[in-house]
Amino acid sequence: MEFIDQLRNLREQVLFKADLNIDSAFKNIVISGMGGSGIVGNIFSEIYSRKPVQVVSDYVLPEFADKDTLFIGISYSGNTEETIATLEEAEKRGCQIRLITSGGKLAASGHTFAKVPQNIQPRSAIGYMLKPLLSSFLNLPDEACLGISKLLENIDRDNNEEKNLATEIFKHRSIPVILGYHPFRWIAYRWKTQFNENSKIMAFSNYFPELNHNETMPLKDTYEKDKFMFLVFDGSQNSRISKRMNVTAEITGTKFHVISIKGRNLLEQLFYLIHYGDYVSYHLAGMRGIDPNDVSLIESLKKKI
Ligand code: PA5
Repeated sequence: MEFIDQLRNLREQVLFKADLNIDSAFKNIVISGMGGSGIVGNIFSEIYSRKPVQVVSDYVLPEFADKDTLFIGISYSGNTEETIATLEEAEKRGCQIRLITSGGKLAASGHTFAKVPQNIQPRSAIGYMLKPLLSSFLNLPDEACLGISKLLENIDRDNNEEKNLATEIFKHRSIPVILGYHPFRWIAYRWKTQFNENSKIMAFSNYFPELNHNETMPLKDTYEKDKFMFLVFDGSQNSRISKRMNVTAEITGTKFHVISIKGRNLLEQLFYLIHYGDYVSYHLAGMRGIDPNDVSLIESLKKKI
């Protein structure tokens, strides 16, 4: 599938029906996944807090993981070394296990899994991989999914705002620094990783209020400040955050490029921002003459390890 069609596919993905069929009690959740799959767990962990959730993007499981833990392994390919290592450990510890994958070793492991469609990039399957979590843990009626889908369709129809931002970044050869805030901290990180993988540029992310305790200093004094473009998500819904943004801009002399947030509820806003960032990174790749689909270096690194 062409990369642009993978992006447009998100509006179908949010309608995808999948459930993890959790049938026994658990006290805590460990979600394991890397890169485009791991971000799914991170985004979920920011909006679900009824039980403790720890996301692992590494080989090791936390010490507390045991028979009272629900372990959710997410790997689009189903073959990611780190995720398989944590699955093997979760088996040894007697965790309740559920998986989200399109195939590979995870699908063949014999555990219950939500099967997501194949043949797109893992990072483009974010809707497919998020849906089993949203359906299993949050009340998500079909109308809510239709609402998200409609909103995404609007971006598919008109993404000039996203293209203009990509043009600004391209024109100045800027390094984007995306500054999020709860509940969009991991969306800021998603933007960073999409710039990395799709546009093949360095990018960084941080979030308010934490950045007011460290990154505020270089915001005023860093060398090559002109090289960076500081992007913030509109904070006007949160008076504490918007005050921090204004004061930070004022005392550091920084111009923040504000990304508008559309959506009538949190899930619409989350998907809106995900899609917005996807398009910016896609357009930037085009302007750089780079294939957004290509992750051959990551693939060859996996083969050599
Ligand atoms: O976006 C990508 O292609 C990567 O970040 C992958 O998601 C990452 O390497 C993990 O692979 P998988 O999603 O197949 O587990």
